[in-house]
Amino acid sequence: MPAVSFKNISKTYTGARGSFQALKGVSFDIEAGEFFGLLGPNGAGKTTLISILAGLARATGGSVTVMGHDVVNDYAAARKCLGIVPQELVFDPFFSVRETLRIQSGYFGVKNNEAWIDELLQSLGLSDKANANMRQLSGGMKRRVLVAQALVHKPPVIVLDEPTAGVDVELRQTLWQFVSRLNREGHAVLLTTHYLEEAEALCGRIGMLKQGQLVALDRTSALLAGRASTMLRFKTDAALPPAVAAVARVTGRIVQAKAHDAAEVEHLLALLRAEGVKVEDLEIGRADLEDVFLEIMNAAGSVSAPTGSAA
Ligand SMILES: Nc1ncnc2c1ncn2[C@@H]1O[C@H](COP(=O)(O)OP(=O)(O)O)[C@@H](O)[C@H]1O
Ligand SMILES: [Mg+2]
Repeated sequence: MPAVSFKNISKTYTGARGSFQALKGVSFDIEAGEFFGLLGPNGAGKTTLISILAGLARATGGSVTVMGHDVVNDYAAARKCLGIVPQELVFDPFFSVRETLRIQSGYFGVKNNEAWIDELLQSLGLSDKANANMRQLSGGMKRRVLVAQALVHKPPVIVLDEPTAGVDVELRQTLWQFVSRLNREGHAVLLTTHYLEEAEALCGRIGMLKQGQLVALDRTSALLAGRASTMLRFKTDAALPPAVAAVARVTGRIVQAKAHDAAEVEHLLALLRAEGVKVEDLEIGRADLEDVFLEIMNAAGSVSAPTGSAA
């Protein structure tokens, strides 16, 4: 039984200014114990899909199960299997950190939870903030509490919607250490993030959403192996010849150009030499997930994964 199963999910938002189809028939499973990454640009539909999974939004078509429980017809059982860290910081300012975690335990009917609450506080670096009121905490500390809150009932499926957007390095490391441990202990994880190096390091399998459709779904290693696998990296102050610019990603002085093989690398270097472009710190390396992501997202209109059709 998969941990999560999305079947042909569509979602149309209808408002005063007309309707908008945010999801167009998305289907995939997350296996028990899997660390799954859901990637896509802003507006692709990631949070909408998570809201449907959480029972916070209703799909226009299709169905979702969590550990076999339908999120609509069997809501309470499905919700109990989920720990959701939302993208937005939502909290009650009047309670302390420990009270917040006790209330959440009560919400899920978990009694005598102090030992696990203490472990959560410790693992997330919150022990000395246990008695602080939520409103006194910094943004990063609030985010830690949201993570703890999502985990009070030890859910088999953990969902993190951009948990590291704008948070400091220390919290990212604390969070990944803890979430990786829970994953090793058998919890399935669904992660959305804009930090593709995080996704590459953590996720065994990755799905990519573009404009409400799944455009890639594969093991991380297969995604990395299957695309332009060589990158030429260098620094320059000069303008690039158009043929190089067309295949390059430029960040300040840093240029990264993809090449499929050694012959393409030679060709790019020849183009640069012909234009007299002065190149520094030249290196040839493997493509990373960011390269793969950009290549897939830029492949206009191509839908390569089995996504089914909108209901
Ligand atoms: N409540 C809503 N009403 C209308 N449109 C919405 C609503 N929530 C999200 N959208 C739209 O749906 C699309 C997908 O949004 P979202 O799921 O938040 O994307 P992501 O999380 O991938 O950035 C966006 O175009 C967004 O503007
Ligand atoms: Mg989002």
